[in-house]
Amino acid sequence: MTVDRPAVPQAVNTPLTTAAQFLVLTVRPGGEAAVRELLPELAGLRRSVGFRAPQAGLACVVGIGAELWDRLVGGPRPARLHPFQELHGPRHTAPATPGDLLLHIRAEQQDACYELAALLLTRLRGAVDVVDETTGFRYFDKRDLLGFVDGTENPEGGEAEAAALIGAEDAEFAGGSYVIVQKYLHDLSAWERLTVEQQEASVGRTKLSDLELPEAVKPADSHVALTELDPAADGTERQILRMNMPFNSFATGEAGTYFIGYCRTPAVTEEMLANMFLGRDGDGRHDRLLDVSTAVTGSLFFVPSADWLAAPPAAAAPPASAEAVAPPAAPPGPADGRAAGDGSLGIGSLKGLGSTTPDHPTGA
Ligand code: HEM
Repeated sequence: MTVDRPAVPQAVNTPLTTAAQFLVLTVRPGGEAAVRELLPELAGLRRSVGFRAPQAGLACVVGIGAELWDRLVGGPRPARLHPFQELHGPRHTAPATPGDLLLHIRAEQQDACYELAALLLTRLRGAVDVVDETTGFRYFDKRDLLGFVDGTENPEGGEAEAAALIGAEDAEFAGGSYVIVQKYLHDLSAWERLTVEQQEASVGRTKLSDLELPEAVKPADSHVALTELDPAADGTERQILRMNMPFNSFATGEAGTYFIGYCRTPAVTEEMLANMFLGRDGDGRHDRLLDVSTAVTGSLFFVPSADWLAAPPAAAAPPASAEAVAPPAAPPGPADGRAAGDGSLGIGSLKGLGSTTPDHPTGA
């Protein structure tokens, strides 16, 4: 007798770690089969690395972008899956940038993150390109590089699951989630020219003690004021689960916050973003944090449940016009490893091809 149980989610609701690796990948035409092969093996690969570093609490979440979903999966689609919606405010823009797959790898040890990332990218060699790579680190007591504690008002426990995980509203994809990522670069010199009081007015919280400013003094265009949403008409909270991490490169001078927000519907995160970039109700009064923070990436992914990943449905059928597009005598794919564009999944032909992903060692 089988017992019905709720779908097991991926490790969406785990505590903030000291290290994280964010990888955004695009999948080459013909690379779909390599991705499909890997998805059911992700859990086992995570276990292999995690078991060697038992204190690390290694977790990996994979997200699938809207365009890849249609190439990868046959059958029904998650109800709210769509590409990231670009926002153009009077002063600031939230760009949409390419992304077919997100790997959100986190642990208490950077070596564990590295090892799993290297293993996964080696498996995907020739099938994907890494379009963004960010190594996040904990900065003292969970502060961002602006010096403020980041993550305090995250929902916890059952509230976090209610905020982040799809339920009966899309039963086929219950236990899944939607995730939006954006990489923000900070102008730290400009930020440091502000007084602490001005910085606190931008965030809406005190800097040292991390207390929310009283309503009477919290500016309407502070970050907290614009990202706090009223509950839905039925009284349910509209929250997201954030796992932001700071990152830095002294070589490029890029320092910032990698924003990552999970939610059972992208609409909640999108409303927060609209408030930040366009102003609440479109009044044009943007989030003060944006004056020192520039969004340089933006992508949206569906995060299937762990059960879905373990046994994804049958592959999407190749396009009906495939043969007309690429007759059998078509020449092989270009030297950079791209497939011939024949619409087939052609993993056999991909295996020996070159890659833009580095040849990571995976043994320790
Ligand atoms: C430059 C990028 C960002 C930085 C540095 C940043 C930083 C912070 C900080 C310091 C807080 C206050 C402490 C806390 O509750 O976590 C906060 C709160 C929050 N942020 Fe952000 N954040 C960024 C981007 C975003 C984005 C893009 C969103 C949503 C789309 C967002 C949503 C929220 C929410 C929902 C809260 C809690 C508001 C409340 O209920 O008090 N943040 N953020």
